[in-house]
Amino acid sequence: MNIKGSIALVTGANRGLGLAFTKALLAGGASKVYATARDPSAITVPGVVPIKLDVTDPADVAAVADRLGDVNLLFNNAGAAVRAPLLGSRAEEELRMLLDVNLFGVLLTTRAFAPVLARNGGGAVVNMLSALSWITQPGTGAYAATKAAAWALTNGLRIELKAQKTQVTGVHVGLIDTDMAAGSPVELARVSPQFVAETVLQGIEAGQEEVLVDGTAKAVKAGFNADVPLYVAVSSAR
Ligand SMILES: NC(=O)c1ccc[n+]([C@@H]2O[C@H](COP(=O)([O-])OP(=O)(O)OC[C@H]3O[C@@H](n4cnc5c(N)ncnc54)[C@H](OP(=O)(O)O)[C@@H]3O)[C@@H](O)[C@H]2O)c1
Repeated sequence: MNIKGSIALVTGANRGLGLAFTKALLAGGASKVYATARDPSAITVPGVVPIKLDVTDPADVAAVADRLGDVNLLFNNAGAAVRAPLLGSRAEEELRMLLDVNLFGVLLTTRAFAPVLARNGGGAVVNMLSALSWITQPGTGAYAATKAAAWALTNGLRIELKAQKTQVTGVHVGLIDTDMAAGSPVELARVSPQFVAETVLQGIEAGQEEVLVDGTAKAVKAGFNADVPLYVAVSSAR
């Protein structure tokens, strides 16, 4: 999948990593970049096409897929997080809200764009997952559950989209220096959104179906093979 000449759509493109994806796509020679957001007036990057899209709204998703028939590269980037205990009194409500964005948002958007991608030669779907698809830190239980579910969803979508030649790439990364990570007490190196975007675009061009962006994602995956896997060994001391 070449970035040069591609026609890309990025969800949650108004800030954070989504914003970095739109800039990296333009720099990489994409022919058109649809920068989507709940509030499209927040899209300010010159050269992109701002589009309103709330990934939890089925009518919004259907209307956008109907209108943008030239897309061949879909970035499921939009995401939400909370920092709260899993056994807290609001946990169920928080988990449902996170599932709506981080799991059902990916499903709705991918399902709506699958025929568009098929008509345009297959193309690619990129799902923003996390190191927290594979490990849980204190306070991230609900978010991690949705990213684990989104990882399994990604693997299922890859199987179902293979016949139409759509590449499905899951991206795992530790902390990215964006609003989402701003309040995290975890003392890990943060990677810049620009670095993540550029690494992911290189991975897509190389045909990678899984991109491990940083040392955290690589260490967590490697930690599956330890006698006490990293996801079991996590301290609860925070
Ligand atoms: N930051 C990290 O450390 C980290 C690490 C691993 C993976 N990730 C993943 O990377 C992706 C990007 O995260 P980020 O760090 O850029 O987070 P961020 O700075 O908090 O930005 C989140 C983006 O998602 C959008 N969004 C939330 N709900 C939406 C909805 N219902 N419909 C459409 N857009 C919605 C937000 O739009 P509004 O401005 O309207 O809220 C915003 O544009 C997410 O999937 C996240 O889970 C982040």
